[in-house]
Amino acid sequence: FAMTARIENDTDLMGMRAAGRAAASVLEMIGEYVQPGVTTEDLDRRCHDFIVKDLGCIPAPLNYGGGGGQMPFPKSICTSVNHVVCHGIPSPSKKLKNGDAINIDITVIKDGYHGDTSKMFFAGEPSVMARRLSKITQECMYKGIEQVRPGARLGDIGYAIQRHAESNHYSVVREFCGHGIAKVFHDDPQVLHYGRPGTGVVLEAGMSFTIEPMINAGKRHIKILPDQWTAVTKDHKLSAQWEHTLMVTTDGYEIFTLRGEEDFG
Ligand code: MF3
Ligand code: CO
Ligand code: CO
Repeated sequence: FAMTARIENDTDLMGMRAAGRAAASVLEMIGEYVQPGVTTEDLDRRCHDFIVKDLGCIPAPLNYGGGGGQMPFPKSICTSVNHVVCHGIPSPSKKLKNGDAINIDITVIKDGYHGDTSKMFFAGEPSVMARRLSKITQECMYKGIEQVRPGARLGDIGYAIQRHAESNHYSVVREFCGHGIAKVFHDDPQVLHYGRPGTGVVLEAGMSFTIEPMINAGKRHIKILPDQWTAVTKDHKLSAQWEHTLMVTTDGYEIFTLRGEEDFG
């Protein structure tokens, strides 16, 4: 059974910092290649080679899953374009066009520790709507992170995210959540992106997990495509996602996957 992911000692802390930095560096590397005309397969190839050759890490998504008759994930990163909510599979037939919004989700394993992070990119010039959804979704993630400290509850995180999304007339995807992460990719606890304040698991220093809200411009409902992975909005309206890996510290949080461009954390 799954255990709650925990940073137990200095080895764990150094390991998670290194894994988080490595994952963040992939997102920093790939930005300049997100352009009209590039395929999501091209982006996968570049990230795969960087992760393996430059970072000496393992891309965790490659061959992940596959329990219960599901096809294992066939690529090294997730690329989720426009109305794709998450787990988009890179493909040579998916060519980005001007204005496309794409979430690139990177998970690396370094010395047995996982760093998991994603952000939104745009190919060329996005619509005002796409830019706004992406910005509000990033704010949702930050508002969730700001709740993190010992004694706070998981419901406080979910509530902060849901409140910001819904007050902007967006909806929160319920089928996927943040997760405990350290030596195991998807561990307990489940970090819901909606909820009620003062409810759920009480946070303690040392717990490590992701916060990764998926926010829809339209209704919250999703469906899974026949490839068994790709989640899309039922109404085919836009979806956005941002993700960080972090831990609870004695007085707040430490984000392991912070990038240089962020003025947060
Ligand atoms: N990185 C995703 C997450 O945030 C999980 C991807 S699993 C995959 O949890 F198999 F789809 F790659
Ligand atoms: Co994750
Ligand atoms: Co991820």
